[in-house]
Amino acid sequence: MDNTFYRILNSITDLGGIEPRYLSAIAWTIASISTAMLSFYAKLLEKFTKLITEEKNHFTPKAAASLRLAAVMLTPMLLINLFFALAMIGITVLFSYLFDYGAYLQEKAAQTNRIQEEMIVFFAEITENKSGQTGGHIKRVSEYSRVIAEAMDLPEDEVEEIRLASTMHDIGKLIVPAEILDKPGKLTDEEFALIKQHTTYGGELLEDVEGEVMQLSRKIALDHHERVDGKGYPAGKKAQEISLAGKIVAVADVYDALTSRRSYKEPWSEADAREEILKNKGTQFDAAVVEAFDKGYSEILKVKNTYQDGIQTTENR
Ligand SMILES: [Fe+2]
Ligand SMILES: [Fe+2]
Repeated sequence: MDNTFYRILNSITDLGGIEPRYLSAIAWTIASISTAMLSFYAKLLEKFTKLITEEKNHFTPKAAASLRLAAVMLTPMLLINLFFALAMIGITVLFSYLFDYGAYLQEKAAQTNRIQEEMIVFFAEITENKSGQTGGHIKRVSEYSRVIAEAMDLPEDEVEEIRLASTMHDIGKLIVPAEILDKPGKLTDEEFALIKQHTTYGGELLEDVEGEVMQLSRKIALDHHERVDGKGYPAGKKAQEISLAGKIVAVADVYDALTSRRSYKEPWSEADAREEILKNKGTQFDAAVVEAFDKGYSEILKVKNTYQDGIQTTENR
């Protein structure tokens, strides 16, 4: 053992002038320092691994900084093995810059998402004003959809995408004449056919828009009036052709339409509206979605009370 240290030490410096009885002590001191350094480095690596696995954004400036600290901690190894230490330090520093760049890209992506979200809310509000559904229809449908998606145990990211994308379900109404949307009383067949068009208009408006949420919005705009028995519109799709998000928004939209006052009808009671949704399980609505609606029903009622028509506060928007 001593011979090994002696050889290592001798390769670094000339040990000729040192008394042999001190060599062992020097070697053991160096060995202890190296061991302490390596264990510290291992701890640092463990902390770093935690940082990148536990945080939602793996590339953080914090992770980059801990890598640079690790590189500094490696410098004493230069005395022991120059080539190995240089390689380790080089790789660690390189990774630290990669993490910095990753953090920068992640921030840019988050910024794009924020802009996308603001645009979605902006378009949703324009649609709401145009369609005369004053109050919180869009907000309620989006929150009901979130509750249903959560009750279906969908992953957190998907729930959030559905919540956001559902705000644009009626965006096609921007193209339907306001006098038809706001007409009190019964619509003629032609007028009703025109209102039904808001689904395909929505699909066309969002067709070439990039972004995952926008494309989910497109699916929802096209699917939220489809029925699992194939009698819905605009395409009369079969159950398996309708997107899950579309099926969820269909339930949320109808429950809100039933419980809201419209120019042509009085609001239904909460119990009657719930009954109507349950009654249409498997015909108009997807069975699993109706079950999730029922499972989350107490939460649905909370949302309904929070975002009531007319008394919505700006903080709710
Ligand atoms: Fe609609
Ligand atoms: Fe709607």
